[in-house]
Amino acid sequence: MDYENIVVEKKENIGIIKINRPKALNALNQQTICELINAVNDFDIDEEVKVAIITGEGKAFIAGADIKEMKDMTPLEAKEFASLGHDLMHMIERSQVVYIAAVNGFALGGGCELMMACDLMLASTKAVLGQPEINLGIHPGFGGTQRLPRLIGVTKAKELLLTGRNVKADEALNLGLVNRVIEPESLMDETEKLAQSISSKSMVQIGFIKELVNKGINVDLQSGCNLEVSYFSSSFATHDQKEGMTAFIEKRKADFKNE
Ligand code: CAA
Repeated sequence: MDYENIVVEKKENIGIIKINRPKALNALNQQTICELINAVNDFDIDEEVKVAIITGEGKAFIAGADIKEMKDMTPLEAKEFASLGHDLMHMIERSQVVYIAAVNGFALGGGCELMMACDLMLASTKAVLGQPEINLGIHPGFGGTQRLPRLIGVTKAKELLLTGRNVKADEALNLGLVNRVIEPESLMDETEKLAQSISSKSMVQIGFIKELVNKGINVDLQSGCNLEVSYFSSSFATHDQKEGMTAFIEKRKADFKNE
């Protein structure tokens, strides 16, 4: 499919999506969200893609949902828009593919929300993150009020949501909002290295781990532990468990078949 606002490429087992609306600081309008949904769906059905990277062209990762498009929306249109954004975030979260956000610059509002739906977040020293929606007379609509407290705790999340204060990369790292901070010129290389290292693991286990963490965080501890026991036992019906343990005993690298 030809895209207008994103660029999609594949390097062996790694898919790369670059949001490409630099004039609007990669703001998420409906078309861009639809294109992202399409690209995520394509990666889901492409057996080669194990890890995907999302990044932005220019000085922004994503400066939020498109304010110009939102300004005159009716409540019903706003509901449909928020639902579309949530669909994208859920697809990323529920995908078997591991998503890494390479946050090259502004990740505000919907941009911070998209980043938080990813599994890992690497930020350039130039990154600025936050949920400034309160300054627009709204609150986050793509999951920010829900994912932010789950990631950084209620106390800090409320501070950022209520003040609309944006944070630089170092503070985001201290808050646990990103995994690492990297010099801008090395951001993509380091992100691709991380993607490659994950893509050599068992895809079965990658899927199990994503699901266990993402589901587990939303249920009580006992239910989460029960889920873990169930997936742990299922792992022993896989080729990759036999291969992983045999390779350890034979002192060689495991050759996972993702089954
Ligand atoms: N939507 C639409 N256009 C945007 C945009 C956005 N979120 N962010 C930036 N742009 C546009 C600007 O309007 C400007 O366009 P023009 O040249 O046509 O005027 C262009 O991108 C460049 O932006 P600036 O001139 O403002 O660039 P800057 O470097 O001076 O400032 C910035 C950068 C601090 C990120 C500033 O652009 C900004 O504050 N952007 C808005 C951030 C924001 O509030 N995001 C939340 C959006 S609401 C949301 O996301 C709701 C939700 O959860 C669903």
